Amino acid sequence: MTTTAENELLTRVGPGTPMGALMRQYWLPACLSTELTADGDPLRLMLLGEKLIAFRDSAGRIGVLDHRCPHRCASLFFGRNEEGGLRCVYHGWKFDTAGNCLEMPNLPIDQEALPKIKAKSYQVAERGGVVYVYMGERAIAPPLPALEATVLAPDETYVYCAQRECNWLQALEGDIDTSHFSFLHTGKVEVGHVDPDHPERFQLIDRAPRYHVQATDWGAMYAAYRPAQPGHLYYRFAHFVMPFWTLFPNGPLTDNIIAQAWVPMDDTHVMSFQYTWRHRTQPLSVTRTGAPIPYLERQVATLPNTPDWFGRWVPVANSGNDYLIDRDSQRTVSFTGIASVFGQDSAVTVSMGEISDRTLEHLAPSDRMIVMTRLRLLGAARALRDSGTVPPLVDDPSVSYGARSGDMFAPEDQPWLEAYEETLRQAQHPEMLQAAE
Ligand code: FES
Ligand SMILES: [Fe+2]
Repeated sequence: MTTTAENELLTRVGPGTPMGALMRQYWLPACLSTELTADGDPLRLMLLGEKLIAFRDSAGRIGVLDHRCPHRCASLFFGRNEEGGLRCVYHGWKFDTAGNCLEMPNLPIDQEALPKIKAKSYQVAERGGVVYVYMGERAIAPPLPALEATVLAPDETYVYCAQRECNWLQALEGDIDTSHFSFLHTGKVEVGHVDPDHPERFQLIDRAPRYHVQATDWGAMYAAYRPAQPGHLYYRFAHFVMPFWTLFPNGPLTDNIIAQAWVPMDDTHVMSFQYTWRHRTQPLSVTRTGAPIPYLERQVATLPNTPDWFGRWVPVANSGNDYLIDRDSQRTVSFTGIASVFGQDSAVTVSMGEISDRTLEHLAPSDRMIVMTRLRLLGAARALRDSGTVPPLVDDPSVSYGARSGDMFAPEDQPWLEAYEETLRQAQHPEMLQAAE
């Protein structure tokens, strides 16, 4: 059972908390490149409970600063983004992307103290259409994440954001819990509805898989398995990757190159960044006649972004409208009556409360991956707090490059990890394909 103290340690990510310190060891996806234009509007960015302002200067460089001006703490959100810097509108002090004070125009020239004043700033990197922020203390930040889906060429991937109004960990735990798919998402879909050869039909025939779970160098992994063709098993593999990434099964392991980051905005809001290889095989989404399976859309419709701290990438279906649940559809064509996979996941994870009270849980064998993931996070946060141990992947994120999620078949007498490695060797690796072209 997870105790109250463990739950606090796992979920709180603000400055000074052990899990917040763990998160600050890594680069965090912060926003999409398209959210910042040169000399465009400053962006309110909430990350790990810190209120930040992101802006792109005239030369295209990105700055991420504490939102409070170092003069007398007016918010730089109201600043003028002009001619190579962000100017506070209170007294006109101007800052570059590194936080250096460039001008103090309200002071006589002999009273300026430009070199002494610096706005608090964080290191920034931009890759593949995503802006990353490093909130740690190293002068030279560690390498960027190296999951396969995050290092593909920008025209090879889609990256979407969607916000959820709950603690980051309960959102993440939904991705490493495959047995819910056969209920929450496809509870009303019967095997006769889908292509009789579709690999995912075995999720509909047997909705109670068994699991292998183990710790890995990058976090944890599982294989859920159930009987398939005679002598074979149908496997679904997934990974937790430190500190907040998931790779979940959403198509065949051979080309399911995806990654999802659950980046805490604060303790009760999380932003998901979903990276998807454009050319992967689509997961189960149509019936045997080719019609869309009702309510199983993968796209998330979001409201227009607003400048609010929590105004970015808010789903149209949210807790304020009960996720637009349609009770008639719930009786007839859908298990939930809630549209889209993300909407269904949001409804259940947000309904747990802003921070789920894990002392009330009754975990089952289907939750072994969740237990393993909590142990990995607790272990890493305590080791950092108590002995300064650098957490997994920080110095060598490439360790996680080979991790892949997805489904596959294997003979029932083949060891599960051997089957995984063998399928991975035969899998598509688009970076390698590109290199060979
Ligand atoms: S508070 Fe920003 S310049 Fe005075
Ligand atoms: Fe789900």
